[in-house]
Amino acid sequence: MDHFIYKNGALFAEDVAISEIAAAVGTPFYVYSTATLLRHFQAFDDALDGMEHLVCYAMKANSNQAVLRTLAQAGAGMDVVSGGEYLRAKAAGVPGERIVFSGVGKTAEEITLALEGGIRQFNVESEPEMVVLDAVARKLGVVAPITIRVNPDVDAKTHAKIATGKSENKFGIPIARAREVYQLAASMSGLKIIGIDVHIGSQLTDLAPFEQAYQKVAELCGILRADGHDIMRLDLGGGLGIPYEKGNTAPPSPVEYGAMVQKTLGHLDCEIEIEPGRLIAGNAGLMVSEVIYVKSGEGRDFLILDGAMNDLIRPAMYEAHHDIVAVIEPAVGVDQQPYDIVGPVCESGDTFAKQRMMPPLAAGDLVAFRSAGAYGAVMASEYNSRPLIPEVLVHGDQFAVIRPRPTFDEMINRDTIPEWL
Ligand code: LLP
Repeated sequence: MDHFIYKNGALFAEDVAISEIAAAVGTPFYVYSTATLLRHFQAFDDALDGMEHLVCYAMKANSNQAVLRTLAQAGAGMDVVSGGEYLRAKAAGVPGERIVFSGVGKTAEEITLALEGGIRQFNVESEPEMVVLDAVARKLGVVAPITIRVNPDVDAKTHAKIATGKSENKFGIPIARAREVYQLAASMSGLKIIGIDVHIGSQLTDLAPFEQAYQKVAELCGILRADGHDIMRLDLGGGLGIPYEKGNTAPPSPVEYGAMVQKTLGHLDCEIEIEPGRLIAGNAGLMVSEVIYVKSGEGRDFLILDGAMNDLIRPAMYEAHHDIVAVIEPAVGVDQQPYDIVGPVCESGDTFAKQRMMPPLAAGDLVAFRSAGAYGAVMASEYNSRPLIPEVLVHGDQFAVIRPRPTFDEMINRDTIPEWL
């Protein structure tokens, strides 16, 4: 559930009309709902009630500092995957002891940043990384708390580009080699083993792959404890999917996910960490765009928007579906018609939807892409020299620009011309 609803025939974000924001900031823009962000965080937090736990929001999904602070003030930790994300979380006010460092290629510089600034744990992904982490920690005279990410070889049954738990994927160490790698970690004086980490993919719409992976983790926990390791914490990753299409069966809820976690891992007396990104931010955001032209093509009509693939890459990159709705509510009984909905970028991949049924629209009308709060603004680029679009946060009847649209000059003046030219 989200807080983007029609009131008196117009789309609102909480108590603010989308058209009011469009008039203030121009289109296209992203808009996020505080109440929806908090609701989704709370759903996870409640679902793990009864187990010691921390919900570490995977900030790669949406890393605007206003979003981070909203969640951190509600008690969230953060899952970061780069030095930049680490510093951004710190800048938003998240204490180091609530920041988990994931990612397959942490550099010595990034590790140093986190060890100096304070960190809850590193989720180590490989032996070479472990060697570097150990060396950096010893050089700084500290001990780095670690889990090791195991790859359980489970098919997450999601889009290939976002599946991470199969043996052919680059993530984690093969679970079959876990004992030997934990043994190696235990021999390194710069490291302290505290748990196990697993993450099998994103936009999972079925609990079965999670359960399969978590059962393997439970079994491994017993084995590692018998080997003498102090396994106190299980980081279960993120990945629970969201409903992208109205009318489709919704994926399992955080409540169902939490019950499955309790069932498979509750008996181990471990602290549970989860790293949801999409489920917290996805349906808490819209991308709003204006129709520039309606063009009649051969056998089809194109809606040409001012938003494009550089602003929201998911349809071009993953053939992802986003519901697109008119900001003025269509009258009951109005005949819908098919449109190809495209942006102005010069490639055919700049297509958001083909033959999508929409109410009749004209130049100047606003449309909103739903479920755009996660992996939207963070994946945007300036391709075609289109400035990054602004982000707006709504809170009840208030709204604020949380990242302004750069001017053309700001964008252009970042380039520097070598002396010889
Ligand atoms: N933890 C780790 C280690 C991850 O790699 C990810 C996502 C998450 C947590 C959060 O997963 P979530 O709960 O958001 O599913 N750009 C793609 C999604 C990439 C996900 C990458 N890793 C998309 O737009 O669908």
